[in-house]
Amino acid sequence: MRTTHRVLFLSVLAIAVGCNLFPTPILPPAGLNIVPGGPANTNPYFGKLRTTQGTPIGEFMLASCGCGDWRVLIEPSNGLARSSFPVQFYTQGDYTTDKMVTVFGEDEESGEAMSAALNQLEGLTTGVYQPVGEMQSRFDATRGDSHNQPVEACGKCHIGDDTVYPLPPWHPQKYKTNPNVCFECHTVNGG
Ligand code: HEC
Ligand code: HEC
Repeated sequence: MRTTHRVLFLSVLAIAVGCNLFPTPILPPAGLNIVPGGPANTNPYFGKLRTTQGTPIGEFMLASCGCGDWRVLIEPSNGLARSSFPVQFYTQGDYTTDKMVTVFGEDEESGEAMSAALNQLEGLTTGVYQPVGEMQSRFDATRGDSHNQPVEACGKCHIGDDTVYPLPPWHPQKYKTNPNVCFECHTVNGG
């Protein structure tokens, strides 16, 4: 009896550990339509990156960029490199603002990938992230409602020397005294 229990326990353990060591690959959704330009509500999502057990291990952001894409920004606090790559949105049938949509993105150079379900009505997204050569993690994020959050998102990727895309030296310097000026000259979704 005891041995049986032990075997059972070890098998469950092996499955649990095995799932972490060999995570299911994150693949582009099949049979869904791309939502051009992404969801109608362009406010950014801010949240946490977590281990599969739920321990917070970093910051997660999903936001539209003035370059026309939506992108994720993943900032692990556990020493892994920060990363950012474009994502696309997918829907079953025609896009409407009340449907669940799927988010998928991958960095073709590094092989990182993410996939998420996004609840447009609730402003919530939750999904999985595969870093390079590390265990899969997951994230959950909430859509920001205050009107200055889109511009805060721009700043997280563009203001400062140590960001994913620092503003070039020739760029108008007005943002140095007011980081919220982006929309005087840019829009949230390109231009
Ligand atoms: C998650 C990170 C991220 C966020 C958020 C973000 N950007 Fe970007 N942005 C980038 C990256 C990376 C590039 C470079 C894209 C490339 O070259 O493919 C870029 C490019 C741009 C460009 C250049 C486009 C071009 O065609 O040369 C502009 C303008 C821009 N962003 C403005 C903004 C504005 C305005 C916001 C806020 C609404 C914003 N970005 C938010 C990461 C971000
Ligand atoms: C006073 C106008 C103005 C403001 C304010 C402004 N920009 Fe720009 N930005 C420009 C112009 C002009 C360009 C060059 C556009 C081009 O090359 O087509 C530019 C280009 C960029 C680029 C592309 C840089 C590259 O390497 O090609 C990014 C990224 C960008 N802006 C982000 C921002 C962000 C983020 C903010 C807010 C913090 C901001 N800008 C505020 C005028 C502005």
